[in-house]
Amino acid sequence: MTTLVAVGAQWGDEGKGKLVDWLAPQAQIVVRFHGGNNAGHTLVVEGEQTVLHVVPAGVLNPGTVNLIGPGVVVDPEILLSEISTLEERGVLRDPSRVRLSGRAHVILDWHLALDKAREEAARKRAIGTTGRGIGPAYEDKVTRRGIRVADLLDPDRLRGAIDRLADQKNFELVEYYKWQPVDRDELYRKAVEWGKRLGPYVDHVTRILDGALREGKNILFEGAQGTFLDIDHGTYPYVTSSNCVAGAVCAGAGIGPTRIDRVLGITKAYTTRVGGGPFPTEETGETGEKLRDVGAEFGATTGRPRRCGWLDAVMLREGAAVNGFSALAINKLDVLSGFDEIQIATAYRLDGKLTDDFPMTLSEIERAEPVYEVLPGWSENIRECRRFEDLPQNARDYVERVESLVNVPVEILSVGPGRDETIARDQPFRPV
Ligand code: IMP
Repeated sequence: MTTLVAVGAQWGDEGKGKLVDWLAPQAQIVVRFHGGNNAGHTLVVEGEQTVLHVVPAGVLNPGTVNLIGPGVVVDPEILLSEISTLEERGVLRDPSRVRLSGRAHVILDWHLALDKAREEAARKRAIGTTGRGIGPAYEDKVTRRGIRVADLLDPDRLRGAIDRLADQKNFELVEYYKWQPVDRDELYRKAVEWGKRLGPYVDHVTRILDGALREGKNILFEGAQGTFLDIDHGTYPYVTSSNCVAGAVCAGAGIGPTRIDRVLGITKAYTTRVGGGPFPTEETGETGEKLRDVGAEFGATTGRPRRCGWLDAVMLREGAAVNGFSALAINKLDVLSGFDEIQIATAYRLDGKLTDDFPMTLSEIERAEPVYEVLPGWSENIRECRRFEDLPQNARDYVERVESLVNVPVEILSVGPGRDETIARDQPFRPV
């Protein structure tokens, strides 16, 4: 039995979906533990593309049970539409393969409206959220007035909960932001319907997890977003509203820290970011454009072009510290084919001084200038490589340089979007 946590080491979009889908055949259980449908995982299986936002990426693998933990915020419309699509495609035939925690909080119409209204009002200082209502939903959770999935199954309780929220939410929407109010009766009708349709999927996820641990199953925890979007450890306030680091698994899924075996940090071979906020290694010229074009760097959730730049070892070292990476997976190594030279930030220059550490405050991160090491590139197409030894020498040197800069072994390399376009140097689900 192994429990493996896979988390993003950068600002999200590291290709976690592909990795989780590749790892899933070795896991009996795949778990989402935080975030919501701000995440978007594009999976390519047998040439067919599937984008999942809420359902864990293990669903495409028959026999895997997929859990949505209490730490997730769920937009019922989105979850139900993903379930319908998966049913229509014959991927999901048995509801027992997707289990939704009754304790997960629900994203409601006014969360979506408030997310958009606040972003619009913030103008230049906007976070650049995905507009999916994530922040406002977590806000109601933390202020203890949120509506949980289990409430959808109890129409009487639901009516009171919606009424209690409605006055406050509509007041903010109408009086402060000058937006349209949400019709509480219509929302109530919709919510009762969601409850009926989601009912067969609702379960006590934490208990299922405990049973699976006792039975010695392999369990994969699928992180969303990334370390630097974490509400505590990221580039606050340009972050999401949940904890994205590996430790969040414990609270968000309901598992003790003593039961986590391995943590896999997932990074791209370069860096991207969507939305606002500092990005020390961002390339705004030709290099950035080339990375965006070759890497098809457009958001899976919002379609927004991603900001692109070189790999930042300072960030990865910080990621290793806060997540305790057992190993790294480097995605999209193939995108770097064809660059004459490849750069890696090894340190920052901050106010004239060199530092190896990721700065603490936003203004320091904004002032940090990356110090680069330049490595020779390679021109070969590497998508056919299946063993580390098959890679061109310069690609191997690049990977080994990342290992030594971050001081974490690189266990997996992805050389293309397909499930088989993967190089495994070791077995991630090995017992420790
Ligand atoms: P929110 O999570 O929608 O509130 O957005 C907050 C910030 O996190 C914005 O900069 C988003 O672009 C970013 N973000 C949220 N989810 C993802 C993701 O899955 N990948 C990349 N960026 C994300």
